[in-house]
Amino acid sequence: MEQTFIMIKPDGVQRGLVGEIIGRFEKKGFTLKGLKLITVDRAFAERHYADLSAKPFFNGLVEYIISGPVVAMVWEGKNVVTTGRKIIGATNPADSAPGTIRGDYAIDIGRNVIHGSDAVESARTEIALWFPEGIAEWSSSLHPWIYE
Ligand code: GTP
Ligand code: MG
Repeated sequence: MEQTFIMIKPDGVQRGLVGEIIGRFEKKGFTLKGLKLITVDRAFAERHYADLSAKPFFNGLVEYIISGPVVAMVWEGKNVVTTGRKIIGATNPADSAPGTIRGDYAIDIGRNVIHGSDAVESARTEIALWFPEGIAEWSSSLHPWIYE
């Protein structure tokens, strides 16, 4: 089944949004396959956001991500990459719909609380980067109540 990498950024952890965010993915019906609280260093953050290294906001973005612990997660389910991005909301919270995580809990684009992989391929790369030790092998017994 499809998997995605979701990260609660340092502002989300500091603001006490961890339980709320995990709850939204759980209640949707997705399955938690990996979870850890981790503070990453500059080189690691630069690798995670390597695609954005030419952007003017890159240094600020890296400073933001290394400013405190983040919650790194792997979530699994049908269309979880695309649906996860919908649950998260638009990149700029000024454009995120109410009901999305960023729409409900963020104001500035540089403090937008959460990251989600943007494609199945980048999810694979990000899961390998953040969980080199591997993730949990289990499947939820609720599947027949979630999938037809
Ligand atoms: P992520 O899930 O974090 O990857 O966000 P995204 O996929 O919605 O957006 P993108 O990958 O393009 O940008 C990564 C992150 O860089 C965003 O989540 C923002 O925190 C930050 N960012 C993107 N654009 C801007 C910008 O114009 N200004 C600032 N300050 N930060 C930006
Ligand atoms: Mg992105």
